[in-house]
Amino acid sequence: MRSIDSRRWSLTLKTTSILVAAALAAALLPRAAPAQTPNPVLQALEAQAKAQPGFAGFLAQRGQALFAKAGNGDWSCTSCHTANPINPGKHAQTGKEIAPLAPAANPTRLTDTDKADKWLKRNCNDVLGRECSVHEKGDVVVWLLALKR
Ligand code: HEC
Repeated sequence: MRSIDSRRWSLTLKTTSILVAAALAAALLPRAAPAQTPNPVLQALEAQAKAQPGFAGFLAQRGQALFAKAGNGDWSCTSCHTANPINPGKHAQTGKEIAPLAPAANPTRLTDTDKADKWLKRNCNDVLGRECSVHEKGDVVVWLLALKR
């Protein structure tokens, strides 16, 4: 009797220590990266684009091209934001420093749909002499979101 009891006890001990070890290992493992939270500016643009027929998704490459393209005058988006918006920019007219546009370098960017709308409207008008289409804005936004430090 006694030997059976102690065998059981040692089995219980073994199971417990395995569980403790597993829990410890889990606690020590690097935490899985949090699921990417959807960007509010991108989500709003996607909703508008999907309402139009034939939307096949935004493209970062097209966004980058638009960003670098010279508009009506001498300006392009790069005139104020540089060709790599991970870096701070400088206003082409006033010389005032502009904080980086890429969220990777500046987490406050593209978090406020009203602010993004307002500036995209103004900046597209300044550079292209017209508002950007939803597709153009979406392309630029996915490009900015994909930039890494
Ligand atoms: C004449 C200078 C100038 C040009 C050219 C320019 N921008 Fe800007 N942009 C600014 C300034 C100034 C701000 C607002 C200041 C700030 O937020 O740092 C701004 C803000 C923005 C924002 C707001 C981002 C946010 O969420 O805070 C976006 C997006 C943006 N610009 C995109 C563009 C795009 C796309 C183009 C080209 C079509 C462009 N800009 C051209 C000066 C410029």
